[in-house]
Amino acid sequence: MKNQKADYEVGMVGLGVMGRNLVLNMASHGFSVAGYNRHPDKVEALRQEAKGLNVCGADSIEELVGLLRKPRAVMLLVTAGPSVDSVIDDLLPHLEKGDLIIDAGNSYFKDTNRRAEKLAKTGINFLGVGVSGGEEGARLGPSIMPGGPQEAYERVRPVFEAVAAHVNGEPCVEWLGHGSAGHFVKMVHNGIEYAVMQLIAETYDLMKRGLGLTNDEVHDAFSDWNSGELNSYLLEITSHIFAKQDEKTGKRLIDEILGVARQKGTGMWTSESAMQLQVPTPTIDLAVAMRDMSVLTSEREEASRLLLRPIRHFTGDRKDLLVELRGALYSAIIITYAQGMALLAAASVKYEYHLDLEIVARIWRGGCIIRASLLEDIRAAFLLKHDLTNLLLDPNLSQKVMAQQENLRKVVGQACASGIPAPGLMVSLAYLDGFRSAWSPANLIQAQRDYFGAHTYERIDVKGTFHTEWED
Ligand code: 6PG
Repeated sequence: MKNQKADYEVGMVGLGVMGRNLVLNMASHGFSVAGYNRHPDKVEALRQEAKGLNVCGADSIEELVGLLRKPRAVMLLVTAGPSVDSVIDDLLPHLEKGDLIIDAGNSYFKDTNRRAEKLAKTGINFLGVGVSGGEEGARLGPSIMPGGPQEAYERVRPVFEAVAAHVNGEPCVEWLGHGSAGHFVKMVHNGIEYAVMQLIAETYDLMKRGLGLTNDEVHDAFSDWNSGELNSYLLEITSHIFAKQDEKTGKRLIDEILGVARQKGTGMWTSESAMQLQVPTPTIDLAVAMRDMSVLTSEREEASRLLLRPIRHFTGDRKDLLVELRGALYSAIIITYAQGMALLAAASVKYEYHLDLEIVARIWRGGCIIRASLLEDIRAAFLLKHDLTNLLLDPNLSQKVMAQQENLRKVVGQACASGIPAPGLMVSLAYLDGFRSAWSPANLIQAQRDYFGAHTYERIDVKGTFHTEWED
């Protein structure tokens, strides 16, 4: 039965996987929700699935808005990009001053700023909110990263705190900052997600082509690692993947899946933003590049016949090599988080988000795709030093990386020798070596720039800029 009373607490536009599950999550926590989708079958599906809950399907935007308690709160979970603008345009004629629009999709942060500015002129509040956790997270408890006016957030805080994942009683949601703070943090979350997935894929390759492990052995290794300091959602699902059978062939499903990884763009935006802010994030950049490389299937096919790789198997005891691999992965993951958090620190200053990175680490501990035990250490690092610029300068985390650096070196060396690509591990090691080197060969780059372009250079002994006539 449709409840036509205009008293629903939240409206949802977009009933795809994330939208539908968030509606069910909110309703299961006692909130009344009205949902609309431009495809009527999705509205009907929601009506069926939400039977017994205080949920109402609307057949038009106008009907949806009419169902909401004033001041209204309308959440959007539609594909990032022009669809968000078009839904906002459709909503505007029906909304009034004081109403609130919440964009909970993976919007590009600069679009969020533009939309916030436009809506501010109409007196309508706007929150840009990152939501992570996929289908299961949306239904049972995601990590939620809200940005925008704090007063607007306060209005929906009880809903968000109820539906978010909880870790040790703490909800994985907290207001992060003004403007696009929430969407920027979600974008960097995804950049880290890309990098960690790439690193795990490389260790799989090294286990498979380097050590010659079977899928069962790979499964065992990942599930063993997941029970220790590498414990994380991504390792957990990885271990499950290697045990999954293909219903069609009866073989392991992983071997039936094409080695091509596409993207929706959030990882690429992270790299672009990092370059604009001049923050080095090579592991993330590399993860984006390797997805692009994976798509070049016919070229890779041709090159595999032309550019033969040295067939050298890993040398050494298999058990020891697995220990080295585990250590290499762990240290590279810490180095990846260091890059992502350093990017957030720089963006916080540049875009005046005033982010508290301890809060970011705290709300990433549950619900989201990159949730990991390591986030407890990261949180502790920011609790110890709120303005920490790089996690590798934290005493605890730096010690953990140092304890594994030999393993990372050994693994990268073996990968190079056997021609198995492990570029994520390699650039992570190079980042570490570059970051901790007080001396840098960039003196030569300064000299070269000054030589060919009179770009001037700085000196070690006195401040200022200098130019030399390099040729007699
Ligand atoms: C999440 C995920 C989610 C989505 C990515 C996938 O946090 O729940 O990150 O946002 O799975 O957008 O991104 P790609 O399609 O670019 O890999």
